Amino acid sequence: MSETASRKFSRVLDILEKNSNDPARLIPILQQVQDDYRYLPEEVLTFIATSLDLPPAHVYGVATFYAHFTLVPKGKHILKLCDGTACHVRGSEHILSALHSRLKLSAAKHTTDDMLFTVECVSCLGACGLAPVLVVDDRVYSKVTPEAAVEIVDKIVAEEGGVPPKAASISTPKKEDAIV
Ligand code: FES
Repeated sequence: MSETASRKFSRVLDILEKNSNDPARLIPILQQVQDDYRYLPEEVLTFIATSLDLPPAHVYGVATFYAHFTLVPKGKHILKLCDGTACHVRGSEHILSALHSRLKLSAAKHTTDDMLFTVECVSCLGACGLAPVLVVDDRVYSKVTPEAAVEIVDKIVAEEGGVPPKAASISTPKKEDAIV
């Protein structure tokens, strides 16, 4: 391996080493690389394939088979809005519109230009009694309103050092709404 490649992929090399360069540990390796990069760059997949002596098509196939893995960069904060039946009936589409409007996103654009947020729609999260449900990173918010969703975003923006726009008629999400 060239010195340039070793330097460029030193973080991946560390992960491979921690996993004993074992091809049977491909999934945990991909998981750890994604945790580090926040996505799986194609050149990294090729590097992993070469390092583990696996066909690149196999590594690529695993990375694209599992919905959990992503080949495109995602934002630092991931908002997963449930659009299962119960959440949809209770207005998840209005929450999505509010988030899209606040973050200048659309059905075709899921990640903000500053790479701070990615908004995704997911199917039933299994908490239908709490619908509509929004998961922000690892935190679950229940009975979310569009205003509360925007306030959650603005709070993160402020924590990240940005300046949230003036909130005119935004209600505070109830503390008990966060169930995790
Ligand atoms: S439909 Fe949203 S949690 Fe089940």
